[in-house]
Amino acid sequence: MPGDKSISHRALMLSAIAEGKSLIRGFLEGEDTLATLAAFNAMGVQTERTEPGRLSVQGVGLHGLSPPSRALDLGNSGTAMRLMAGLLAGQRFDSELRGDPSLSQRPMGRIVDPLRRMGAKLQCVGTGCTPPLYIAGGQELVGIRYQMPVASAQIKSCLLLAGLYAGGEMQVIEPAPSRDHTERMLEQFGYPTHCSTSAVSVQGQGRLFATSVQVPADLSSAAFFMVGAAIAPGSDLLLRSVGVNPTRTGVIEILRRMGADIALLNQRSGRAEPTADIRVRGARLHGIWIEPLWVPLAIDEFPALFLAAACAEGQTIVTGAAELRVKESDRIEAMAKGLRALGIRARSTADGMIIDGGTLHGGVVDSQGDHRVAMAFAMAALRSSDPVNILDCANIATSYPQFLEHARSVGLDVASRP
Ligand code: S3P
Repeated sequence: MPGDKSISHRALMLSAIAEGKSLIRGFLEGEDTLATLAAFNAMGVQTERTEPGRLSVQGVGLHGLSPPSRALDLGNSGTAMRLMAGLLAGQRFDSELRGDPSLSQRPMGRIVDPLRRMGAKLQCVGTGCTPPLYIAGGQELVGIRYQMPVASAQIKSCLLLAGLYAGGEMQVIEPAPSRDHTERMLEQFGYPTHCSTSAVSVQGQGRLFATSVQVPADLSSAAFFMVGAAIAPGSDLLLRSVGVNPTRTGVIEILRRMGADIALLNQRSGRAEPTADIRVRGARLHGIWIEPLWVPLAIDEFPALFLAAACAEGQTIVTGAAELRVKESDRIEAMAKGLRALGIRARSTADGMIIDGGTLHGGVVDSQGDHRVAMAFAMAALRSSDPVNILDCANIATSYPQFLEHARSVGLDVASRP
């Protein structure tokens, strides 16, 4: 499995602003994280790729970044844009963050509003506050107490990174737990955080110290193969050293509740992030109500989970998942449309979907340029009577460049055409 995307972004960002040389192992070399790498290189951070997935980063310290000579292009990556906006809001220089057509439609007001309350100066486009983002440097930031309207690790992490540059304490309060990789990694870089069940805070103007980071395999990428193995009768798949941080493992819990046969072997606590080998065997799945409580803990796994629901007996109901509408695509519509094209009764609702499990025939589905929608539909072919043709798949390379190769190695008959 490829390295974890969220953790790779953070490892790079914190290494860049730490003092000394950090070593990152298991770094995801996907388009999203390579965009972050290019952005830091453009701000004077020297990095060396000593072998695949192994990166040494010469940190420049909290105030050592240099002004980029042009706009930073973050491609498809919402994580890169939102986290870097927080980090750049505290610099002495101006910057501009841009993205591809998908990222250019994603809402940035969720970070721009609280950053402005901290004293940052940012501009975005139109009433939807979409990219490009223009960030004016040289502002004095102050820590605030911010109650997030949605459970979002991107908002939380953006504000914590801005908080490193702020005077006083920055406190972020979450309506429900979201992934806590930033908090864990700040600690790993020697930067104290204070975490309670619903709040996290940092004191500004501290220092980060270089360290070595082992990035675990990405559970979100593993999820496609977990669902693939769960829906394919007779399969037995072992996925090694996958990150099983409890703020990410909703997918395991949800699939188990649907009847999946999943075992976690070799569980290790790791320095910052726990890992395990995940064994999945084919099983009969049944529909369930996925409670809103589980949504932030499995937020990126819904394309795969919707497919699992389509292959389950009975009905699956998802509620409280409106955030899926503002991901790389509107994942509720993209998945509902695609499942219907393959013969499944799938009705989208404002904040989720109602899916009746059934029989998949083949057909043409549009991934809407969304890597996770494309990979979920590739797995649909394991249960479809005829081939599934998936359009607009190039963005699979943003998170999982070896996906086709890995899919073939476990028996999928899959090919790509430009
Ligand atoms: C991410 C957080 C999630 C997730 C995204 C990665 C992160 O977004 O969907 O793919 O690395 O912090 P939200 O925090 O907006 O839910």
